[in-house]
Amino acid sequence: MQPAFAIIGGTGVYDPALLEGAQVQLVETPYGSVQVTVGRYHNQDVAFLPRHGAGHSVPPHRVNYRANLWALKQLGVSQVLATAAVGSLQHTYEPGSLVLVDGFLDFTKSRPITFFDTGPVVHVDMTDPYCGRLRAQLRAAAGRLGLTLHDGGTYVCTEGPRFETPQEIRFYQSIGGAVVGMTSVPEVVLAKEAELCYACVCMVTNYGAGISPTPLTHEEVVAAMAANVHRIRQLFFTVIEAGEHTRDCRCPQAVQGQRPLGPEKGESAH
Ligand code: HPA
Repeated sequence: MQPAFAIIGGTGVYDPALLEGAQVQLVETPYGSVQVTVGRYHNQDVAFLPRHGAGHSVPPHRVNYRANLWALKQLGVSQVLATAAVGSLQHTYEPGSLVLVDGFLDFTKSRPITFFDTGPVVHVDMTDPYCGRLRAQLRAAAGRLGLTLHDGGTYVCTEGPRFETPQEIRFYQSIGGAVVGMTSVPEVVLAKEAELCYACVCMVTNYGAGISPTPLTHEEVVAAMAANVHRIRQLFFTVIEAGEHTRDCRCPQAVQGQRPLGPEKGESAH
């Protein structure tokens, strides 16, 4: 089995729905082992990875992002479609909206952020963090399905696991954020370092703290996701069905052989 496409399921997206003959594989990586489900859709192998582990057991700041991305790379994946539950920073993005983010602002604090921790130094280009080619495919799929997908927007990534204060939300609005979540960084960065195409469709589950009329709860996020996840699935499987494997973007050369991926000999991977 060699899946070209992978889906990373965020909060509320825990099952590989629509994949036939799905089997769980334990993939060993230098950063720990990861359970990935691989099944078939329209004659293609497709991988599915729930970001927070089975049953949402891992909080956003403890997700083993390096192991997750490494496992997908090792399976042969080249294109990653990710979902993320987010809070809205703008009234135009109502709960239930889908936002195809095209950039991020990083407010994380304590996460392993790179595969290249020791020399030789690698500085990966982030001009197009969320693959523009894959985003175009998602836009086209949304058009074919008649789904509203807000095109572009900046994802503000916080450390979590707490929700934001109203003051932070006002600040994130003032610097141009569209949505706020806790997981896109370092996932999108590691995907680029691994020379994978990566796009993220965000589901707005609530307005940010202080905009929302009521205090935020994880339960409301999960419930909003459950009510709307079918649209993200449709989008992703439409892209997968189209089966575009020509990667004429810059992602396959993001690191350009500056050095092999992963920990140096003797370096701790954890
Ligand atoms: N803030 C951060 N992460 C989130 C939110 C939020 O309001 N909603 C869903 N994920």
